[in-house]
Amino acid sequence: MTVTNPSQHSVAESQADQQSTVASESSLFPTYARYPLNLVKGKGSYLWDDQGNQYLDFMSGLAVTNLGHAPDGVIAKVKEQLDELWHVSNLFHIPAQEKAAALLTANTCADAVFFCNSGAEANEAAIKLARRYQQKVLGKGRFEIITFKQSFHGRTLATLTATGQDKVKEGFLPLPEGFVHVPLHDIPALKEAIGPHTAAIMLEMIQAEGGIHVVEPAFLAEVKALCEEHGLLLIMDEVQTGMGRTGKLFGHEHYGIEPDIFTVAKGIASGFPVGAMLGKGYLREAFTAGSHATTFGGTPLAMSAVLATVETILEDNLPARAAEMGDYLMESLRTHLAEQPFVTEIRGKGLIVGIACKEAVGEIVLAGQKKGFLFVTAGPDVIRFLPNLYVTKEEIDTAVSLIVTLIEEHVAAKATIGGE
Ligand SMILES: Cc1ncc(COP(=O)(O)O)c(C=O)c1O
Repeated sequence: MTVTNPSQHSVAESQADQQSTVASESSLFPTYARYPLNLVKGKGSYLWDDQGNQYLDFMSGLAVTNLGHAPDGVIAKVKEQLDELWHVSNLFHIPAQEKAAALLTANTCADAVFFCNSGAEANEAAIKLARRYQQKVLGKGRFEIITFKQSFHGRTLATLTATGQDKVKEGFLPLPEGFVHVPLHDIPALKEAIGPHTAAIMLEMIQAEGGIHVVEPAFLAEVKALCEEHGLLLIMDEVQTGMGRTGKLFGHEHYGIEPDIFTVAKGIASGFPVGAMLGKGYLREAFTAGSHATTFGGTPLAMSAVLATVETILEDNLPARAAEMGDYLMESLRTHLAEQPFVTEIRGKGLIVGIACKEAVGEIVLAGQKKGFLFVTAGPDVIRFLPNLYVTKEEIDTAVSLIVTLIEEHVAAKATIGGE
């Protein structure tokens, strides 16, 4: 067991007090409710703060560091590229970008790739491509994108409008037109939402930010059939579910259903900011020269991180490992939390796992940090585990034992307060 002696965390606690003072004097916009830790170093499944405290990391930068922190192979490739050439304008050919795109298309159902810098930007590209294909190539006045309640697609104006959660929209009116939301797994509502202006249906394979809700296979099959019947494009947002995390390279592979377009970011470059939109070959006609662009998309430096990350995921067969370790983690959680009435459900796929609870779990996350254990929530009452794909059984055993204790302590503390 490598988690730090809890006594060391008293230092972290006093730090926390200092930090809340510092926050009000910060030169940053206060857009994030930050946890009171200064993480300064990472390796594999562990992070260290500036006080030398060690943390077992079961959040992976929110599904970003899928290879663990500071993966040697990626570091070596990026260092090599740092000495050669960082940036080339997309006005020129970029061989590493071609190579990364070829690697992705060879291993997925897609035929073409557009590189950008984030998940939101990849989803913007998907929305633009769907509209332009419907309007310019098919000559139809279609623009509407149907998405699902509780979904999350990003924070740009179009992607927050696509997102099925009101909290991300407050104060940003007017929102762009052309987005409709229906409840997940509600086929009658979906059928009713499809109209003459519908261009595409867009969904996550697991609603992650929305609480770890895995899409049901029968529902996805119906969605695909409706797309075919009405000439709509099927867009899958694989920003959180992609790059091996669910037990397949991409979440949709579990269903045997191919999207027209899918998006990826987070885990594609081990923490280097890269997003990508992948699509079928017939969509090439819609994204011609001048139709879409981004300055930093697919630079040699970014592509060195993508190539090293994707090659490692494939060579080490990390999707299969995620499937095996995910089963082990979920089974172990189900066994050890079976008698815990605070927990209502363990759900997920591969190494994206939610522990649904009866009440808010924010305090459990903070208590975890004091024990040297990092994880996040998915909505107010779901604990979310996103370990890296090399996570070991021993690390999972440690995590399970810690979360069982944390939940027990939380429940006991609540009972004491309630009884006072
Ligand atoms: C499913 C999904 N789509 C899109 C995004 C937005 O990605 P980014 O923050 O890189 O813009 C996220 C981020 O959490 C996500 O989980």
